[in-house]
Amino acid sequence: MSPPSAPSAPSGPSGASPEALRDLALAVAREGAALVRERRSGAVEVAATKTSDIDVVTEADRACEALVRERILAARPEDGFLGEESADDEHAVPADGVRWIVDPIDGTVNFLYDLDGYSVCVAAEVTVDGTSEVVAGVVVDPATGTEYEAVLGGGARRDGVPLAVRGPAPLAERLLCTGFSYDRRIRVLQAEAWVRLLPHVRDIRRRGSAALDLCLVAEGRADGYVEEGVHLWDHAAAGLVAREAGASTRVLPGVGGLDLLVCAPSHGFEELLDAVEWAGFTGGTAAE
Ligand code: IPD
Repeated sequence: MSPPSAPSAPSGPSGASPEALRDLALAVAREGAALVRERRSGAVEVAATKTSDIDVVTEADRACEALVRERILAARPEDGFLGEESADDEHAVPADGVRWIVDPIDGTVNFLYDLDGYSVCVAAEVTVDGTSEVVAGVVVDPATGTEYEAVLGGGARRDGVPLAVRGPAPLAERLLCTGFSYDRRIRVLQAEAWVRLLPHVRDIRRRGSAALDLCLVAEGRADGYVEEGVHLWDHAAAGLVAREAGASTRVLPGVGGLDLLVCAPSHGFEELLDAVEWAGFTGGTAAE
């Protein structure tokens, strides 16, 4: 389904408007999602492990990223490209320009087990005078075909329908999404912080795709999201979808020394952040 046109934003140094970047992101994410869906209809095996024995990659992650990378760089050879599965081989962006940030399958463990909740994420980040900002983001759920997209300043949509976060709720009535690091040491710290915070909120959900969790906040189906150990490719696209729907996001040092991402509707963001700090999710020193 084609999204409605957002208010036009000026073209940047890329020579392309955020809407044009969003359109390319959507086209390649759809192609990637079709590949992922096709791979899921056959046998799926672990191809390798990455940061730990439980951080897995499948051939479908690699094939999807290769397809997305090829399509984007064919259309825009001057752009940079950062993908989860080829992060060691980043296609460097010029000082001012566009960098694509891609997670070919966010929620790989769900994909492996054929559980609901994995997505193809494509974001376009523009750097001007040293300041970088994500201007377009697309998240496609291959299993359902649901498409989330946003343009900076142009709102967020699911299958073309504008999104808005939930209304205000006291902390005790907020449903929060979370995830756990692939680093077992950090999981202990995350669990300890949840022991403190859990009695003070409605409940938590661990769905297995940070990107889809952020989209839940965007569409008013969750009140917030808290997780340490996320990477830029997990949240670049979905973070814009959430912000354009009325949420705030912040990345800060987590208790285990990795990036902690907090997201909530802007009207309740500071209260959640205070609770997250109080519960001990923050304050670590940088990991080695
Ligand atoms: C992971 C998922 C998971 C979250 C992890 C992410 P991946 O992404 O988003 O929900 O808990 O932090 O790394 O590895 O499946 O792309």
